[in-house]
Amino acid sequence: MSNNNHFPLLKSRARIGKLELRNRFVLAAMGSNFAEKDGTCGERIQAYYENQARGGVGLIVLETSSIVWPAACSMPHMVGFSEDRFIPGLTQLADRVHKHGARIAAQLNHSGKVSQEDTVAGRPLWVPSLLQKGTSDMLSLLTPKELGNFIKAAGPDGKGPSYHVMDQADILALIQQFAAAARRAKQAGFDALEIHAGHGYIISSFLSPAVNKREDQYGGSLPNRARLLTEIIRAVRAEVGADMPILVRLDAKEYRIEGGITPADFVQTAKLAEEAGADAIDVSAYGNTAKGIAFTEAPLVHQPGGFLEFAKMAKAALSIPIIAVGRVELDVAEKGLATGHFDFVAMGRKLLADPTLPSKVMADQPEQIRPCIYCYICVSQIFINQPLMCAVNPNLGNEHREHLIASSNESKRIIVVGSGPGGMEAAKVLAERGHRVSLWEKERDLGGTARIAALAYEPNGRLIRYLADSLRRLAVDIQLGKLATLEALRAERPDHVIVATGAARKAPEIPGKHLKHVFDGDQMRGLLFGTDAAAARKLPLYQRLMLAAGRNLQLLRHIGLMRTLSHFWMPIRKQVVIIGGGLVGLEMAEFLVARGRKIVVLEPTANLGPELSIVRRSRVVHLLKEHGVELVTNADIRAIESQHVTYQLDGKDYQAQGQQVIIALGASADTSLADQLQAGGLQAVAVGDCKRVGYIDGAIHDARAIASTI
Ligand SMILES: Cc1cc2nc3c(=O)[nH]c(=O)nc-3n(C[C@H](O)[C@H](O)[C@H](O)COP(=O)(O)O)c2cc1C
Ligand code: SF4
Repeated sequence: MSNNNHFPLLKSRARIGKLELRNRFVLAAMGSNFAEKDGTCGERIQAYYENQARGGVGLIVLETSSIVWPAACSMPHMVGFSEDRFIPGLTQLADRVHKHGARIAAQLNHSGKVSQEDTVAGRPLWVPSLLQKGTSDMLSLLTPKELGNFIKAAGPDGKGPSYHVMDQADILALIQQFAAAARRAKQAGFDALEIHAGHGYIISSFLSPAVNKREDQYGGSLPNRARLLTEIIRAVRAEVGADMPILVRLDAKEYRIEGGITPADFVQTAKLAEEAGADAIDVSAYGNTAKGIAFTEAPLVHQPGGFLEFAKMAKAALSIPIIAVGRVELDVAEKGLATGHFDFVAMGRKLLADPTLPSKVMADQPEQIRPCIYCYICVSQIFINQPLMCAVNPNLGNEHREHLIASSNESKRIIVVGSGPGGMEAAKVLAERGHRVSLWEKERDLGGTARIAALAYEPNGRLIRYLADSLRRLAVDIQLGKLATLEALRAERPDHVIVATGAARKAPEIPGKHLKHVFDGDQMRGLLFGTDAAAARKLPLYQRLMLAAGRNLQLLRHIGLMRTLSHFWMPIRKQVVIIGGGLVGLEMAEFLVARGRKIVVLEPTANLGPELSIVRRSRVVHLLKEHGVELVTNADIRAIESQHVTYQLDGKDYQAQGQQVIIALGASADTSLADQLQAGGLQAVAVGDCKRVGYIDGAIHDARAIASTI
């Protein structure tokens, strides 16, 4: 442990109302789909939240929960607060959280127009006034399997949602339902309540001028639109008494929604909430769900610290604590606390990736925090009605199972071959379990193909760094530039060999693929990192010289530096055709277009980026289109010529212009090394892409599963 006292304010105790919290970390509410089918809290969800509490967070905000279960639910396994039968499970959950010193708030909600489960059951959705039906642009990007999960959301008649405009009696009933749910939360031993007044749910539908077109005292002016919220706060206060803190989650802005909530509206609403008795404001935002990109503007903001400005505005206008959220890095959080821009920081994805983040900060070991890679897999799971999972944290959702990485009784000699995320994760888990581990990598640097992914998408680089640092800390014997052969491995007499050498990439037989201006994904990686001499020979002399200089100066070894330098120069021409619109093709396009290249992506199938999560896929596709990238699906590639690629679409001939062609197709599993080692008498097992081609999550989860059994 280091002696530095980093982040003193994040570590400091503070109060919301009369509730004292052990630090400033709040687990942001996140739907998990871990509740039981009947809305109760069983072992899975209890174990998940207990583990979050064990990780050191000050306050847990339980995920969105229905005050009228099974109605008003946005996911199939949603927690209920609407009947007393829910209290025993909630009590157990709260007790397990308290055991570890954390506090817990219930997030009370009615999903209103987002109540997908009402549509599934054929019930109308409650709304303040009639809505236009719309569809999301994400739907056109779904794979057939994902689409299958959406079908039931069209309801029993397949026609999609129907709506019920709430009358005054409904409004009164709703207020009472919130109050009754709050009473149950208190009975179950919860420490606080969060009234969800954001994210398109019922209260925010009343707050939003774009949705609320009522002409009674609940519509029109801002105080009228906020009336439902303030009446709910008052009713809840009357029910739970003065001591139980009431947090209110509000949207500070509605992105890409014409006439939606503005930051000025938000501040005014927050003041009204304070006057009505709220003890804290949790500052979020919302985006138009018809646009996939908007979801990554809000609520799952992609821009680091994207909502901090709003928190600051609220702090300046209110006297109750303000909770900031939205990709807030630790140093930014500490600074925001120091400058008085907010009082607490809620974290969502970071605490999924590493629930022990607060303890690591408390112990001055922030460098040991497993980073989130902003891949949006977690939330995409919820979109397709599946349980929450995290790409980099395989333990998430499995807390109720036996602990995944129990120590081994026997310390074995294990060699891991290949240092992509799968290989490094395997080596890490094996070393943590007490084995003697060597990691062999044939290149000069750790990371494997994830290095190119890190070049295109910065958060991937953090994962490589974290894994590499963990291995060094665990004293794993790292051997770079070491080629694994049967003879070399045999000579080491390992008890086990883990083969994590990644996928084989063989470009399909397209006429012209051997031309000098054509590169496959591996060659492109080799070019950019200066490790493929054969690929470099295809370049003109001046480009070869530039690359050689970069290699000699060791510039090509540093991903961050490469990301910056490549904005100024790289051996890629101005117009590029990428054949293949999967993960590699899209990330390559993202990287190149950001560096001023004109790109056409030709994808032979109907699906773009199926390996990417839905939310990240729709973000990437949107941004590529916005930057003028032409994305062609169902392209039947005919031939690569010197200045263009010919393809057919619906039987018609087309040409995509490009002075350079990248073939990002043809990745396949490759167990040849593992097979050879097994045949040679070694205990070898394949993990990750060499077994089954996928995304980082597949490699990491597979590696951990295998490493935990040795
Ligand atoms: C998987 C997932 C589920 C979420 N579910 C909820 C929810 O139930 N209620 C809510 O208010 N916000 C929900 N959010 C939004 C988070 O509370 C948080 O505001 C958002 O993730 C931004 O914070 P972050 O950048 O730290 O992840 C969810 C986010 C994620 C990633
Ligand atoms: S799934 Fe991806 S985005 Fe979500 S928490 Fe894990 S790493 Fe972060």
